Amino acid sequence: MRKPIIAGNWKMYKTHLEAEDLVKALKEKKLPAGVEVVLCPPFTALATVAQALAGTEIGLGAQDLFWEEEGAYTGEVSPLMLKALGCAYVIIGHSERRQYFGETDETVNKKVKAALRHGLKPIICVGESLAQREAGETDQFVAGQVEKALAGLAPEEIPQVVIAYEPIWAIGTGRSSSGVDANQVIGLLRRTIAREISEDLAQEVRIQYGGSVKPENIKEFMTLPEIDGALVGGASLKADSFYGIIA
Ligand code: PGA
Repeated sequence: MRKPIIAGNWKMYKTHLEAEDLVKALKEKKLPAGVEVVLCPPFTALATVAQALAGTEIGLGAQDLFWEEEGAYTGEVSPLMLKALGCAYVIIGHSERRQYFGETDETVNKKVKAALRHGLKPIICVGESLAQREAGETDQFVAGQVEKALAGLAPEEIPQVVIAYEPIWAIGTGRSSSGVDANQVIGLLRRTIAREISEDLAQEVRIQYGGSVKPENIKEFMTLPEIDGALVGGASLKADSFYGIIA
């Protein structure tokens, strides 16, 4: 049985001071059992959020990492540094990183391997553009992204992986995918993992939906069998709306 995971991707929002307030407000609410909750603040707020989360069940994640452990890589953050701060998760290959920062399937694969090597669980983002959807290329494109992201992983690493299916046209637009469509694509991704790796391991991988998830539409996704939670952007920036999704 896969445990649903709701992760908040704060993107480039919240100073470490604002982050502390948000965590404080979230801690006042009672988390339901049976759902894993993860916060992914910007790098500059990770230490503060880690401290504020101490003693809670809420996990910590980063939004990116570099694949080397250390070295002359100005501006980059290594898996060792994230691990030392108490991160359990790291988002990899978000479409904004692919679009604005030149990430490719190859760099995503390197980052996934580096994360796993250091005991960080990757939340790997995949998703098609509107043009690809309209051209009927969604299935082939996202299955290819998943195959390339997971290439070369050891079988025992596969259950550590979380995948977030995030159609680009649904991110931050208020226009979410329908639950049925998201469930169909996520089912396809699971079958891709089954074919490439193994059926049993594919059944263990959690695959989230992301893109304009709100308290008002989360049920539409969570009632469908293939969808194991959500990666939430905008609605994770306020305690009430993020809690509304978790609850
Ligand atoms: P959104 O972002 O919830 O604001 O659409 C989701 C994401 O980019 O992870």
